[in-house]
Amino acid sequence: MPEDHFGERVAARYDESSADMFDPAVVEPAVDFLAELAGDGAALELGIGTGRIALPLVQRGVPVHGIDLSEAMVAKLRAKPGGDEIPVAIGDFATTRVDGAFSLAYLVFNTIMNLRVQEAQVTCFQNVAAHLEPRGVFVVEVMLPELQRLPRGETFLAFDVSPDHLGFDEYDVANQGLISHHYYPREGEYSTFPGRYLWPSELDLMARLAGMTLRERWADWNREPFTSESVKHISVWAK
Ligand SMILES: C[S@@+](CC[C@H](N)C(=O)[O-])C[C@H]1O[C@@H](n2cnc3c(N)ncnc32)[C@H](O)[C@@H]1O
Repeated sequence: MPEDHFGERVAARYDESSADMFDPAVVEPAVDFLAELAGDGAALELGIGTGRIALPLVQRGVPVHGIDLSEAMVAKLRAKPGGDEIPVAIGDFATTRVDGAFSLAYLVFNTIMNLRVQEAQVTCFQNVAAHLEPRGVFVVEVMLPELQRLPRGETFLAFDVSPDHLGFDEYDVANQGLISHHYYPREGEYSTFPGRYLWPSELDLMARLAGMTLRERWADWNREPFTSESVKHISVWAK
């Protein structure tokens, strides 16, 4: 089982420290996008966490199942209204199987990068394909590596410097490694999230290895066009 970087300490302040991601202006377009793709079927969220997307998706009438490694994050989900009605398997989403067939699987908020080696990311696509109905879709939301901002020989990029939070990404270019460092000065809390960044073309190959093909790629949940200036992408592959 991979190491759990979302233990009690991180789970306790996850919703507060990711408050901008819980803003309805961020959540609602994502839920609209996903609900439309789920249609009359069920959805599987890999890395369901505290239910930021799953809970509003269930409220939209989509049955959601989840997989997550962190008991602590899932306990936070369970404590929310409706949270204890969502079936969640505790395990690694690259390999954990759940019962059922799904019209939609989704992996948002850069969480595919939490798989630290290419092999695990490839296996994850194969695991998703095994859960999808024919013509079911897999949606990934993930940042683009910011190598255009990283001078040769440097390893750190600041992504947030504010009184409440200092955030730095540490790049290991040779290995496509990225460690996200977060320091909260008021609480004296420091967390790191090691991961592996990927390119859109690499994700397309992983999808292809799993028997899926690219159907859509957007810059955001409002379907803005994906361009050379995009900082992230929302990609949809169909089985
Ligand atoms: C950044 S949080 C995202 C949570 C939720 N999807 C959201 O958008 O708010 C990442 C979640 O993925 C889970 N996770 C990370 N790696 C995992 C793995 N290999 N298998 C299962 N869950 C994993 C973490 O425990 C955490 O709950």
